[in-house]
Amino acid sequence: MTDFKEKFDSYRVAFENALDEYLASVSLKPQILDESFRYSLKLGGKRVRPVLMFACAQMFGGKISDVASLAVALEMIHTYSLIHDDLPAMDNDDFRRGQPSSHKKFGEGQAILAGDALLNQAFSVCVEECKKGRTYVNAAALIAKNAGACGMIAGQAADLYFQGRDDASEADYEFIVRNKTSKMFMSAVAVPAYVYDADENIAALMLEFGKNLGYLFQITDDMLDVSGDFEKLGKTVGKDAEEDKLSAVRVYGLEECSQKADRLCELCLKLLSQLPYECGFLEEFTRYVRGREQ
Ligand code: IPE
Ligand code: IPE
Ligand code: MG
Ligand code: MG
Ligand code: MG
Repeated sequence: MTDFKEKFDSYRVAFENALDEYLASVSLKPQILDESFRYSLKLGGKRVRPVLMFACAQMFGGKISDVASLAVALEMIHTYSLIHDDLPAMDNDDFRRGQPSSHKKFGEGQAILAGDALLNQAFSVCVEECKKGRTYVNAAALIAKNAGACGMIAGQAADLYFQGRDDASEADYEFIVRNKTSKMFMSAVAVPAYVYDADENIAALMLEFGKNLGYLFQITDDMLDVSGDFEKLGKTVGKDAEEDKLSAVRVYGLEECSQKADRLCELCLKLLSQLPYECGFLEEFTRYVRGREQ
């Protein structure tokens, strides 16, 4: 476990360095855009998606630097999704990463624009990476597909649609999670498979692992919204019930969520065991997601 924490931290530090390098290369005008852009990126999230991408790159025998820019792009897309997710028109959350949400700090209009800026800059980074060759084009296309209308946005649209409705089913919840959360995890773990042109069956295994790990991550997020702690989470607890969200807890109840999370954890470990690589870190990562408190 100590080894896991150290490794996690070393990936996190590598990511912060890559992000700082990127941020040093941009200077936005007007100043409020520059501030809002940096504010959310540097608030200090857990960086789970970049950490996963780096760990997978190393698992394939590659280098962190090979995927560092794509990790920055993915985290920028994730960060924009959180800014928009927190807006009064969506989840109406005043806190993010332990600090006032973007719209609380800069106003709603500037928060929307900060999100737009992050999304567009992320794709500029992806386009630059495409110059490295065909495998990077495939990786960037995966990121675009999973973040967009057939991915995270579809999940967010369904999440909003089913808010406050009592005709939602388990399948509707699955649709929400598979898209709003799993798709970004699929990108995180499969981008290295694409960059290194891994066999089709290996890429498929990575996508399946990401899908289920993302599901596990969202179930634990929904459980923590009920039983978590603001100090650890950095976001308001009890919001899902307050906003009448179609959360895992609403669909299954806390007890069954816990059993479902155990089963997903086992499934992720089983998928990892089918990979012809040493994946101790990814196994520990899966257990960390199951037991996380933040
Ligand atoms: C929050 O993601 C949104 C969900 C998918 C539940 P994270 O829990 O990864 O947020 P940060 O990046 O650490 O703040
Ligand atoms: C958000 O899910 C997933 C995104 C795509 C942003 P939640 O709405 O549950 O995330 P939190 O709890 O606000 O972080
Ligand atoms: Mg939401
Ligand atoms: Mg939210
Ligand atoms: Mg949540």
